[in-house]
Order: sequence, then structure tokens, then C-alpha cells
Amino acid sequence: MSDNIRKYSHKNPNLFELRLTSCLDGYSNTKGKPGLPEPSSPSSRRDRRALSTIMTHDVNTLPKHEPAFNAFSEAFISDPLPFMHKGLRHQGVLKHETTLDPIYSLFRYEDVKHVLLDWETFSSAPINTDLDALNLGRATENFILMDPPRHNRLRALAQQGFFPKVIERFLPRAQRIANERFDYALEADRFDLVNDVSAQLTIGMITGILGLPSEDWPVIRDWTNVMQRNTMASFWLTEWDHERSEGVERVTGEMADYFHDHLQFLKKHPTDDNILSILMTTELDGERFTDEEIESTAMLLLLAGNETTTNLITNFVRCMARYPTQFDLLKRDHSLRNAAIEETLRLEPSLRMTVRSVCQDVEFHGVSIPAGNSVALWLMAANRDPDVFDNPDQFDLTNKRPRHLSFAAGPHFCLGAPLARMEADVAAHTLLQRVQHIELLSPPQMSDNGNLNNILSLEARFEGY
Ligand code: HEM
Repeated sequence: MSDNIRKYSHKNPNLFELRLTSCLDGYSNTKGKPGLPEPSSPSSRRDRRALSTIMTHDVNTLPKHEPAFNAFSEAFISDPLPFMHKGLRHQGVLKHETTLDPIYSLFRYEDVKHVLLDWETFSSAPINTDLDALNLGRATENFILMDPPRHNRLRALAQQGFFPKVIERFLPRAQRIANERFDYALEADRFDLVNDVSAQLTIGMITGILGLPSEDWPVIRDWTNVMQRNTMASFWLTEWDHERSEGVERVTGEMADYFHDHLQFLKKHPTDDNILSILMTTELDGERFTDEEIESTAMLLLLAGNETTTNLITNFVRCMARYPTQFDLLKRDHSLRNAAIEETLRLEPSLRMTVRSVCQDVEFHGVSIPAGNSVALWLMAANRDPDVFDNPDQFDLTNKRPRHLSFAAGPHFCLGAPLARMEADVAAHTLLQRVQHIELLSPPQMSDNGNLNNILSLEARFEGY
């Protein structure tokens, strides 16, 4: 093993030790990044994908006969927890050998957090600049896939729309939509918690925030449904999935055209009641932002903020139904609302994992990860790490917990976290005011993308006061 390898290990369960022996200089994006192989052409990549059957086997740290998991398997999608616990137990590193790029899963809280913070070694830009394999269609120019310093400029722009005083302006809108949706749910004999309540609230909010006509709701729901199926899918799929890739191609094309037209409309009708209009007039360091930058930011906000928050609200209600003693506790003491939302986020993170590209050889707990590979960071497992959380699998409103990683950490910490928390708080407040009993009438229908904790539909019944 060379001296240039960064080594990470837990000698003692509570002690995270980082032995740092050398470090690369910073860089702005993957192009020309040291340690990463040159990209191949899109067509050759596509062909390789089409032919490849990805073998998700081996694992340096597991007995040879024990297969690693595949996040797109039915077993994983319906219940990822056994896999998360296994990953936490087995030294925290699992290697998934594929015919293309191996991917190494990390599970432990300190490992995941460390990678999220160390953006110079672990880049957000896709490995090999292989955007084609990531299947992002026209959604590639967004800052979630960039590293500092390029990332900083666009994030600083979008940040203008997420200051508390801007978010507060949308509070009455959130409450009005929540009231309407709870009216509907309380009157219905049974309703779909996702499509009749949570998604309506979050799409109603994102359309208001981006200044989009509310009648575009169905098309936005269609876009987000197609895109959620694809999120980080290429890391686990056993073969190239044409249906998914064609859907993404179509949707990102439609979205790019839609936001292009929308910006022209906003220019002709100036206002300051939505984030995009605010961004168009914002200057940072004497510079305005280009239409293309604002359009790609709008696409990112629409995609990053929609399903994630829908799932937070759905899972909050679901947790209240599944843990009735905790629901009773909350009914008696509404000041625990914030703790209830954070516990939901910790146990049911909307993104179960995220990915980083390794730019320098590293070693975790004796497993070497060469530059040019990817690491899957299992936020869901990190949030249940017994070295960090007491009784990690319990939903516990009274336990003061360390900070969970559901919104990530470091330079890419979720920009929309205050908005998501505000929407969840409005839903929680409305639930506590109006609902005394929740009955879940069906198992959750999960998305076929195991990277996400995406519930597509869940039948429920409310009993009001
Ligand atoms: C419960 C709801 C949400 C969850 C769990 C969530 C989770 C996350 C996570 C884990 C990341 C980091 C991804 C990475 O670095 O690989 C992220 C980034 C981001 N999120 Fe959220 N998100 C939520 C809601 C929202 C909302 C409502 C918006 C905006 C409307 C939003 C906008 C963003 C943006 C723009 C980024 C990229 C930040 C950057 O790259 O600097 N998110 N989110």
C-alpha cells in the first residue's frame, strides 16, 4: 500500500481516526482531475452498458458466500433495514463488483459525514464525467453535481431564494393548502395519503415558489415521477434500462423548454412574489446570472424539492400511525413537533443514499478504494449507527439526538431544508389540530428505485375531533 493513501478506521467504536498522509490540490470540476481516467465516448459507454450484466457480488469484508445487496432488488426496496444493519456490522464497507465501475458502500455515521465534508477527496461531479451513464438527459448543468468553487457561485445565487424571510412569505400559502387537503381527507372514507395530501401540499408550494401556474400540477407530477425512478439508478441496474433513459431524455427536454418559456414570461411580467423573479434581479459581486443558469437552477429546485418533501410529510403521518404512544405524547405536548419531524427525517430519509467520486486512493477500515471509483453513502444506515445514536431503531421524541445526515452535510447540505421543515411543520400542526386517530389501510406502495425512500401511494383514514 502506498504512502499516498488516506486511511480511515474506527479503532474504538466511539473514536473516529483519520490518518491523513497526503492530499491533492483543490479543483473545480472533474475535467482533468488528477486520479480520474479520461471519459470514453457516449456511444461506447452506452454499448458497454447495454451488454453489461452487473454482478453485484463479493465483498471484501463479508464471508465469500454472502452476496452484497443490490439496491434495485425487490427485497431491498421493500425492506432495506436488514441490509443497512448488515453493512453497519461488517466493518462498514461493502464492495459491489460490477463489470463497469465498482462501487463501495459506506454505512457508518463518521465515515459518511467525513466523506460529505471532504469535497476535495470525494467529488460530487460524476466519475469519468460519465454523464451519459448517469442518464440525466438535459439536467446535467446543475450545482448539485459541481464542486467548489464553481458550485459556490450557483449555490450562492439559489440561496437568495431560501433566506428565512423569503421562506416565511410562503407560510400562509402552505397553511391554506394544508387546510384544504385535510378538509378533503377528513371528509373522505378513505384517501391516498401521498396523492391526496402530501404531494398536493408540496407541489402547491413549489409551483408558488417558482411562480408556475398551479394548473401545471399534473405535468409536474409526471416529470417528478419519471425522474425519481432514475435517481442514481445506473449504479445498481443490472442492465441498461431503455425505458428509464428514454423517459429522462423526454422529461429533461420538456423541463428545459418549459423553464426557458417561463423565464421569458416572467421577464415580461416583472414581480417579486416568486424565487425565480428574485433570482433574475439578484446581483452577486456585481454580476447577474445568465438565463441558462437560472433555468438549470429552477429544474434542480423542482426535482430536489418535490418528492423528497412529499415523502417527509407522508412518513411523518405514517410514523404517527405506527408509533401511537409517541403520537399521544405529541398530542399532549405540541412543542415536541420539531423533534417528531427530525425523528422522521432520521429514520425515514427521503434519500437513502447519495454518491461521491473518489479522487485519490483511500482506505476505509482496511478496504482500499482506488481513485476513479464511486462511494455510496448510506445516509439511512448512518442515521441508525449504534455508535452515535442510543436505541437507534426507536422513534423516540424524548431522546435528544445528535444531528442526522438526511439533509447531508458540508458544501452540499440541502439548500431546501428550511422549506422542507416549514412544510412538514405546517402539516404536523394541522394534523395535531384536527386528527385524533390515523388508520393505515394498505401497505405503502414503494418506488422501484431503492436509492430513495419513495412512497408512491398509501391508503389511509383520519378520524377528526
Ligand atoms: C425532506 C426533504 C428533503 C430532503 C430529505 C433533502 C435531501 C437532500 C440531500 C441529502 C442533499 C445532498 C445531496 C448530495 O450532496 O449528494 C440535498 C441537496 C439539495 N437539496 Fe434537498 N432535500 C429535501 C428538500 C429539498 C427542497 C424542498 C428543496 C428546494 C426546493 C431542496 C433543494 C436542494 C438543493 C438545491 C440541493 C443541492 C445543494 C447543493 O448542491 O449545494 N431540497 N437535499
